[in-house]
Amino acid sequence: MLNRFTNSFRRSIHFSINIITYSKYNKNYIAGTRNLFKSNQINMEDVNTTSTTTTTTSNSVPMSIAKIESEMTPNTIKVSENTTTILYNNENEVFYNPVQEFNRDMSILMIKQFIQIRKKEAEAKGKPFKKVKILEALSATGLRSIRYAKEIGDVEYILANDIEQSAVDSINKNSVYNGVEEGLIRANRGDASMVMMQNKDFPNNYDVVDVDPYGSPAKFLDSAVQVVSEGGLLCITATDAAILCGSYPETCFHKYSTVPLTNSGYCHEMGLRILLKSIETTANKYKRVIVPILSLSVDFYMRVFVRVYTSPLEAKKSMGKMCNVFSCIGCGSFHIQPCGVVIVDEQNQNKNKYKVPFLNKEMGTQCEHCTKPYVMAGPFYNAPLHNVEILKSALKYLDENPTLFNTVKRMYGVLTSASEELPDLFYWKVDHFSHVLHLTTPQQSLIRSAILNAGYQTSSSHIAPVLKTNAPQKFLWDVWRAYAKEHPPKQLSETSPAYHILAKEIQHKIDFTEHPLAKGGESANIPKYLPNPKENWGPKARAGTKKSKKRTNDEMNNEMNNNNNNNNNQEQSTDTKSPTKPMKEKKQKLLPSEYPCQQYLKKGYCKKGDQCKNSHSITNKPHNAKNNSNNEI
Ligand SMILES: C[S@@+](CC[C@H](N)C(=O)[O-])C[C@H]1O[C@@H](n2cnc3c(N)ncnc32)[C@H](O)[C@@H]1O
Ligand SMILES: [Zn+2]
Ligand SMILES: [Zn+2]
Repeated sequence: MLNRFTNSFRRSIHFSINIITYSKYNKNYIAGTRNLFKSNQINMEDVNTTSTTTTTTSNSVPMSIAKIESEMTPNTIKVSENTTTILYNNENEVFYNPVQEFNRDMSILMIKQFIQIRKKEAEAKGKPFKKVKILEALSATGLRSIRYAKEIGDVEYILANDIEQSAVDSINKNSVYNGVEEGLIRANRGDASMVMMQNKDFPNNYDVVDVDPYGSPAKFLDSAVQVVSEGGLLCITATDAAILCGSYPETCFHKYSTVPLTNSGYCHEMGLRILLKSIETTANKYKRVIVPILSLSVDFYMRVFVRVYTSPLEAKKSMGKMCNVFSCIGCGSFHIQPCGVVIVDEQNQNKNKYKVPFLNKEMGTQCEHCTKPYVMAGPFYNAPLHNVEILKSALKYLDENPTLFNTVKRMYGVLTSASEELPDLFYWKVDHFSHVLHLTTPQQSLIRSAILNAGYQTSSSHIAPVLKTNAPQKFLWDVWRAYAKEHPPKQLSETSPAYHILAKEIQHKIDFTEHPLAKGGESANIPKYLPNPKENWGPKARAGTKKSKKRTNDEMNNEMNNNNNNNNNQEQSTDTKSPTKPMKEKKQKLLPSEYPCQQYLKKGYCKKGDQCKNSHSITNKPHNAKNNSNNEI
């Protein structure tokens, strides 16, 4: 039967496939592959490809824990994470990064929440709840899938896929080693995009799809947005944070079709909004839209959880969810320019109007505050990053189950701050305004009080202890003008942004009386910015690769985030008097492009390196050193 099946598949798609069965997973495995083939909608004759979705396993001897243990070598490493113990090879044959425990914990929590919602939705429709099918498209050791199998519940099965045979072997071995119920995990070898495309049609599609690649997820988005079932949950990791945060605009554009701002102080939120834009516009091609549940920028990566729906009408409205940003190069003030205007007819949405937007009249051609020119970047996703209701129910679940996860404290802090975040675009670093105006930086609560007393809202962000507000930037500059009256700067150059901003009259009444919510309200005592507990955290090298001399993007991210983490810790410890100790800043070797340049003395770093005609004094101050918010990456 197997041969007949294999041969007919060979005939129909003209490439060879090699199936040898794994006895323990034999039945499920074949059923799984049959599903893959059944749903193959691609006419392979039209595709000029040398790669194949080969689905192979080897070894026909039944596996047992005793046998697995007897085969352990001095190179075998045993690591435990919560419910699961993984065996993997010391020589980095299969990828494992312990620091992603927080990512896996949070994913389990969000998938559990999603399943509860699915149950309620089924009940509301009077339909029976169906267990969910999960696809982990890039599984490596299988740790994540095994944890999903053991910790989530209500799961029909998990397809744990990886392109490497060593990973597939590891998934199978570790599933047995961890006593995963037979058939609950189906290991599969294949290219993630191919597997997702082959399963995109109902009923082969998946309710939860997890894409956790090395670096950028960009190339997997097209298939990922299609393989998620109606209303299903798509979980995506991006570890190319340096690209999403604007360090390499050309790479960001070719991967995500967005030109980022290259020197914003809010680059991590911008990165999230670039990633979400990319997922949304990819989904739009298939008349689908996304609704974010939780969008996180933590450590060295971004992780988003979005539900995916099919709706031609909502896809049309997508242009109203995207925006470009005009950002002043002098003072960082910015204007949001929607990509499209959607006028909704509540009575009959078929009569909605879709218009090309006019340029924001207030904006002019140069900054109204400091007279410097604007740069334009975008498009970005300009709709809510989180579903607050779901985050609150996740927090309640953690309250009721405080020992389920090792990273529970951090999860609690991140979810609390995410649930409190204002939806308004971007945030201000604590020292942004004082840096532009050459002023001392006061306690955040003073500035927050002035904003709150005027009837506007303030919040922080899950990313860092920063200021988010719905107050207009005109008002914010007035707050700082009022502060500067009491704490004037030293002499200012007449061409500086500070000079122009402070020369203007204050137009609003500014009241610095302490406001009861200025110190963070009810959740002020919940620690929100816990550092990663492990040393040397960051993205790990790919499995089986030796370190090359050239720095990889992962390494650049790593450096960037070690610095950001230090900065955040410092802000946290000075601002909220948390006991968290700032980490020691590591001395780094800088590339020539990173040396501070005389040409930009206070403002920037030169990219000309040895070609530069100005003098370069070499210091160990990194690009994003704390007092240089213009250069945060
Ligand atoms: C970052 S690791 C996954 C880690 C895993 N999700 C976890 O939480 O432990 C990326 C994995 O993707 C696999 N991979 C790379 N390219 C792939 C592709 N095109 N299709 C499927 N797997 C791929 C690699 O072999 C590697 O095991
Ligand atoms: Zn300006
Ligand atoms: Zn220079």
